[in-house]
Amino acid sequence: MVSVEAKGVSKFFKTTRALDNVSLHVDDGSFFCLLGPSGSGKTTLMRIIAGLETPSSGSVYFGGEDVTELSPSERNIAMVFQFPSIYPSLNIYDNIALALRRETTDRNEIRERVMQVASLLKIEEHLNKKSHQIDFGILQRVSIAKAIVRRANVYIFDEPLSNLDTKLREALRSEFQRIHSEVRGTFLYVTHDQLEAMAIADKIGILNNGKLLQVGSPEEIYSYPANKFVAYFIGSPTINLIESEVKLVENIVYASVGDGHIHLGNKALELFQTSREPRKIILGIRPHEITLSREPVGNALPAEISFIESLGTAQVIELRNGSTVLRSYVDSLSDFREKEKVFAVFNTESIHGFDPQTEERVF
Ligand SMILES: Nc1ncnc2c1ncn2[C@@H]1O[C@H](COP(=O)(O)OP(=O)(O)OP(=O)(O)O)[C@@H](O)[C@H]1O
Ligand SMILES: [Mg+2]
Repeated sequence: MVSVEAKGVSKFFKTTRALDNVSLHVDDGSFFCLLGPSGSGKTTLMRIIAGLETPSSGSVYFGGEDVTELSPSERNIAMVFQFPSIYPSLNIYDNIALALRRETTDRNEIRERVMQVASLLKIEEHLNKKSHQIDFGILQRVSIAKAIVRRANVYIFDEPLSNLDTKLREALRSEFQRIHSEVRGTFLYVTHDQLEAMAIADKIGILNNGKLLQVGSPEEIYSYPANKFVAYFIGSPTINLIESEVKLVENIVYASVGDGHIHLGNKALELFQTSREPRKIILGIRPHEITLSREPVGNALPAEISFIESLGTAQVIELRNGSTVLRSYVDSLSDFREKEKVFAVFNTESIHGFDPQTEERVF
C-alpha cells in the first residue's frame, strides 16, 4: 500500500473540462471517499489515478514517486466498477483465483487466499457456481473479492454498491470498513451517496464541476463546510440556506430571517472588522440545530408550522416566517400540529455564513 497524490490534475474531453486543477493527497493505508454529483468528474479522476486515462495536465504520485507515465499494470491497481466483471464460463472460485495469476502459481497459496476473501465477503457457498446461478448482489461481492484478493498498491472502488437495493447496500456498506481493516490497503472509494461516504470514510473529498472543493474528515465536512455547495450537499435533511441581511448593533450581530431577526454568535463579529456597514449573507442552518418551543425562549423567531413530515420515530417540521421557509428536525414524535404558531429556537454557535457572490464560508 502507498500514499496517492494528484498534483494540479486537469482533464479536457474536447471542450468539456472534466477536471479542473485537482490536487489531492491520500494517506497510505487510509480509506478515502470521493463524493460528488453525477458528472462531477469522479470516475475521470479515478481513471487517471489508475492509469486508464492520461491527464491533460498535472501529475500522479504513488508513495512520492511520479507514476504519470506508467501503465495501469505497472501501477499495480485493483479496481471494482459499478457492474460486476465476471467470466461466465468460469466458476466463482476460478474467477477469484484468476486475479492472482500474476502474483503466484502456488496452488496452496491461491486456495488459502481465495478462501480467506470468500470468508471475508461471505461467498463461500457460491464458489462452485457460475455467474448465471447467482444474483447481482452476490456477483458484486465476487467483484470485490477479485479486487481485494490481490496485493495491490491501491484499491479503487467506483460506486460498487450503486446498483444494489437499499438493504444489500446498507449491509455491504457496513462491511466495507471491516474489509479495509483486514486488507489494510489504501482505499479510494467513489460514491454520490453522502450517507455512504459519511459512514465509511476516514476522509472525504467533495468534487463538483471538476473542482475539488474540500477534503476533510466526515465531522469536519459536516461541521465546517468550506462553501455553500458542500453545506448543501452534505447532511440530511438538507441544510436551510437563507438570504439574510446581517448587521451590528452594540457589538451583537443580528441577522434578518423572514420578517424577524435572530442573533448570531461571536464568529460573525469578524464580518465587521473592516466596515460596520450591514452585509448581505447566506445563512446556513442545519435542521438539527433548530428546535421548536411554545414559549419565546433564547434566540427565538416566531413562526407558523406549515407542514409536518413524519419519518417514523422523528419528524421534519416546516416553518414559515414571512416568505422564509425553515425546516427543523425533531428527534422524537412531538405533539406540534400544522398551522400552530410556535417559536423556532436556534443553536447560535452552529449557524454558518456564506458570501452570496463567492459562496465561500465567511463564518
Ligand atoms: N470519454 C469521455 N469523453 C467525453 N466526455 C467524457 C468522457 N468521460 C467523461 N466525460 C465527461 O466528463 C465529465 C465528468 O464525467 P465523469 O464520468 O468523470 O463523472 P462522474 O462524477 O463519475 O459521474 P457519475 O456519477 O455519473 O458516474 C462529464 O461531463 C462527462 O460527460
Ligand atoms: Mg462515475
